[in-house]
Amino acid sequence: MQGTASPVPPTLTPPAAALSPTSAPVTGSLDGAALVQEYCTECHTLNRVKRTSGSAAEWASIIEKMVGEGLEVTGQEKQAILAYLAQTYP
Ligand code: HEC
Repeated sequence: MQGTASPVPPTLTPPAAALSPTSAPVTGSLDGAALVQEYCTECHTLNRVKRTSGSAAEWASIIEKMVGEGLEVTGQEKQAILAYLAQTYP
């Protein structure tokens, strides 16, 4: 005779994919401030950024220089970072 009571059924967990962090809303405008916090503190502190000021063109060349140092950003992220820096540290 098999047992009369069936074992507790395993709890069904939702697929992990449903919680994928890449599902964050991608709108036209990325958060430049957050991107700077994330990317521009990898090799030096934010002080390095804060004590620098420049026009959009100057920041663009600084970002290119950082890419040369090894910074990896997408084109969209670069735009958002540039817009934020040029506006915040003119
Ligand atoms: C892969 C490493 C790395 C990352 C990521 C990085 N930097 Fe830098 N950064 C450097 C190095 C190395 C220097 C020093 C370069 C020098 O002295 O010539 C520097 C220097 C600077 C300077 C000083 C000015 C200058 O031209 O030397 C500024 C401003 C700056 N970084 C801004 C940024 C910003 C903004 C970001 C994010 C978009 C960023 N960095 C991300 C490596 C990095």
